[in-house]
Amino acid sequence: MSVKRPQIMGHRGAPSLAPENTLLGFKTAFQAGALWTETDVSLLGDGTPVIFHDATMDRCTDRSGSIAALSLDDLQRVNANQQHPAAGFQAIPTLAAALDCFADLGMGVNLELKRHDHVPPAALVDAVHPVLSSGPLPKERVLLSSFDFDVLKLARAAFPGWSIAVIAENATSEVFEVAQQIKADALNLWWETLSYDDVQRTRAQGMTVNVWTANEPDKVRSMVDWGVAGFMSDCPQNFRF
Ligand code: G3P
Ligand code: MG
Repeated sequence: MSVKRPQIMGHRGAPSLAPENTLLGFKTAFQAGALWTETDVSLLGDGTPVIFHDATMDRCTDRSGSIAALSLDDLQRVNANQQHPAAGFQAIPTLAAALDCFADLGMGVNLELKRHDHVPPAALVDAVHPVLSSGPLPKERVLLSSFDFDVLKLARAAFPGWSIAVIAENATSEVFEVAQQIKADALNLWWETLSYDDVQRTRAQGMTVNVWTANEPDKVRSMVDWGVAGFMSDCPQNFRF
């Protein structure tokens, strides 16, 4: 008999230890034991896909204002270390650089497609597609995900045969409808509202369940018994299931 162990994923790397969504953060997550990481891809104003969570630079960088004001040429001058200044200068990585980093480390990536107001859904998927499909990661080491139903539908059409997850705070019937429509492989759900029945219903439809943002192993331990497959955590160093 084999026992399936849950997958521990860094959430934006390991932001409890190193600046989120930076190459240093991903290396730190890997060293902390995470073989996968969740991360966010957003578009700059010039359409470059980069690894960044917020619509503005205020929280994570030494700049302020919308990321739509940035272009590729700016990246080596914007410091994304604000949450961990002791880390020294950390650039916002391009998606291409992050994929190289995951390939070098041997990590898998749950790539959340973040649509901000300055970006139409098709522009986001069209910008990610060439970088990901010609990049170094085999599709078995990629899970595409999004909260945005339009982005998910476009991603399914652009990435046939790749794994896709619907992200949602609650497992509503609309979420299941979209998941069915795009033949989703997983639901990435909020651990705070997750119920045993949500997990069983998801698994009965042939999908796996991953949860975010699971930072306290003791609080989420029962979810392993429910059948949750993956845990995204800001503190991957604390997970030893
Ligand atoms: O991908 C799951 C989780 O990251 C969604 O929330 O805001 O951290 O991107 P957020
Ligand atoms: Mg995310």
